[in-house]
Amino acid sequence: METRIALRQTASVRSFTGEAVPDAVVHSILDDARFAPSGGNRQPWRVAVVKDSTIRRQLAAAMKPVWNEYIALAQTGRTPFALVDGAPPLTTEPTDIPFPLLDDIASVPVVLAIAADLSRIATMDAELSRPPISGGGSIYPFCWSILLAARDRDLGGVMTTFATRAEPVTGPLLGLPPGHALVATVFLGNVDKHMTKLRRNPVDSFATIDRFDGQPLSSGA
Ligand SMILES: Cc1cc2nc3c(=O)[nH]c(=O)nc-3n(C[C@H](O)[C@H](O)[C@H](O)COP(=O)(O)O)c2cc1C
Repeated sequence: METRIALRQTASVRSFTGEAVPDAVVHSILDDARFAPSGGNRQPWRVAVVKDSTIRRQLAAAMKPVWNEYIALAQTGRTPFALVDGAPPLTTEPTDIPFPLLDDIASVPVVLAIAADLSRIATMDAELSRPPISGGGSIYPFCWSILLAARDRDLGGVMTTFATRAEPVTGPLLGLPPGHALVATVFLGNVDKHMTKLRRNPVDSFATIDRFDGQPLSSGA
């Protein structure tokens, strides 16, 4: 598919048709995604293709409370779990909110757990007084490339990070090696219809000249 269309029309998909996705297709998606960039080209990714329904259900059981907590925090109007100015921790137990992606995880065609080898990530901002972020740049492009490669095959999917917050439980469940972080769980499958209109902020709202307090970059139109 055309690159611009893929960039502009790869939406998050959280419900799938029942059609199975063969291993050969998953393999070919990963075979494309492995060309993602990473710092020093160290390619720190590991992928577990989670097929076992018991492991899947245990994974979902660990992820579901994070989803419930996320929704309860989001309802405060602040960004949940943000390290800067985020919603304050909950004081009450969140209520259980249905989420078919996790509630019916056994029927999701493809569940991928993505891990990163932290010994192969140069974290440029590790010593700063703010929370580090640059290390994620060596692994999340790979996750996004999986979604783009899936879209190219007319599949849909979503990257989620619930399992990351629950890593003390999800890590051992998936045999996460020492020194690795569980960075995402990616769900893939066939979709009835692709969303083509994505809500995103316009360039003028985030791009400025010379400095972040500079003039907005004009389209020239
Ligand atoms: C780093 C990252 C983490 C995300 N984590 C979750 C998640 O835990 N659960 C989820 O349902 N979606 C998750 N998403 C998907 C976003 O919610 C989605 O990209 C965003 O809402 C835009 O949706 P759209 O592409 O359908 O417009 C994540 C996306 C990224 C890039």
